[in-house]
Amino acid sequence: MSEAEYKRKYTFGEDYGTSFYKFGPITCGERPEVIENRGYFPDESMIMFQLMGKPREVVIGDEIAQFLGAREELAERLVYPMRNGVIERGDERAWRVVEEITRYGLERFRPKADPTFDGFFVCASLSAVAPRYMYERLFDIHKRIDEGTGLVKAVTIIPQPLAVAIAHKTPTCVVVESGHGNTQVCPVSRYPIRRAIVALNRGGGDANAITSQILYDAGYSDLAKEETIVRMVKEAIGLVPRDLDEAIRAAKAEPERFRAAVKIPGTRITIDLGDESWARFLIGEYVFNPGHEIFQSYFARGMPRPRDVKIGDVLFRGMLDFGEAIIEAVEMCPVELQPYLYRKVLLSGGNFQWSVPPELEGIAVDSATKIKLLLREKGVEDVSVEMAREPKFSVWRGCIIYGYAVSASFKWSWDRMEGWVRFRP
Ligand SMILES: Nc1ncnc2c1ncn2[C@@H]1O[C@H](COP(=O)(O)OP(=O)(O)OP(=O)(O)O)[C@@H](O)[C@H]1O
Ligand SMILES: [Mg+2]
Repeated sequence: MSEAEYKRKYTFGEDYGTSFYKFGPITCGERPEVIENRGYFPDESMIMFQLMGKPREVVIGDEIAQFLGAREELAERLVYPMRNGVIERGDERAWRVVEEITRYGLERFRPKADPTFDGFFVCASLSAVAPRYMYERLFDIHKRIDEGTGLVKAVTIIPQPLAVAIAHKTPTCVVVESGHGNTQVCPVSRYPIRRAIVALNRGGGDANAITSQILYDAGYSDLAKEETIVRMVKEAIGLVPRDLDEAIRAAKAEPERFRAAVKIPGTRITIDLGDESWARFLIGEYVFNPGHEIFQSYFARGMPRPRDVKIGDVLFRGMLDFGEAIIEAVEMCPVELQPYLYRKVLLSGGNFQWSVPPELEGIAVDSATKIKLLLREKGVEDVSVEMAREPKFSVWRGCIIYGYAVSASFKWSWDRMEGWVRFRP
């Protein structure tokens, strides 16, 4: 079998997100599988386990649900390995979780009865700010998995923004990747321009925070505490305003037209914001521009403000609006390159997946339009902003395309940070 034929079956993509791990072979087509990037460490001293047999050291996936009864110790035992895409050096429990989900993902797709199978060509993707030791650990993990299972023939790792650029076949662009926990703004010119990366400590999780506050204010204080419900409500009712003040005026004048109501599937509960439905525009604005003065009163009442945090040697900024962030990143690049970068701004990640109900068009806008407006407001006119086709999965797709295209004979180089680490000939 030729290399191309082999890879057409056995190229495997892996996107390590702060909240989700997206994985699967090339044969998945458009959509990978998804599991939460988290693990639970059961308390092995529990008497129950002495009676029923010890559980595994770390539990992942749906099985976690069975352990959620023990509320008090949840925070300590439920480990989300990545903070803003970064695992702290020496955080051994975090690496255990990553190893376990990776093993699960690869096992999940082990081909049945194919004698030609000799392991996957795995292309994994990490945050653009992931330090070098994360690459080393991830290579080690794949090696260890392969030793026990024969599932990995070779592995390579690419930064998430590069994967997005590849998935859209655009060698020169600015990628804005906004997931649940954080946002990376990364100019790409063949390769990510590392010194120009602007990282934000903000993502879909912050939109959840303001949604929770809105639910609380509307009298749903119990539901406001349930993360999954809050997220569902956010995705169902959140809107991005073209101009926040105008949108609020319009919605207050015609509350029926802007009414936000959602039924929670499988329950008798309907959440209805009624006359407060104008607040749905706050959710979208907050994602793009938390600096709007209207949010001051929410911070004053205790909603956590997105803070600047330093993780490793990267400063993740809290409050920068997305327009400012793009401009800051572009302006760290050579002047001659800047116009080309503005001409291709690519948005990816679930936090850009806001929809526009047709009847509210003009007042509510999509993410690409909002970014264009924020840039124009700051004097950048000649821009083109495009939304990734499957924003949650474009990193994974880029991994597949890269893994398929890069020749197996290309060896990993630590200087260039590209090529394959091979475990077998
Ligand atoms: N239709 C939607 N409208 C608004 N937000 C959405 C929608 N669909 C998904 N999201 C949000 O996108 C976020 C998840 O995005 P994504 O899957 O890209 O994150 P991730 O890759 O796990 O995290 P990260 O990239 O931060 O490491 C969640 O906050 C989710 O609520
Ligand atoms: Mg992501």
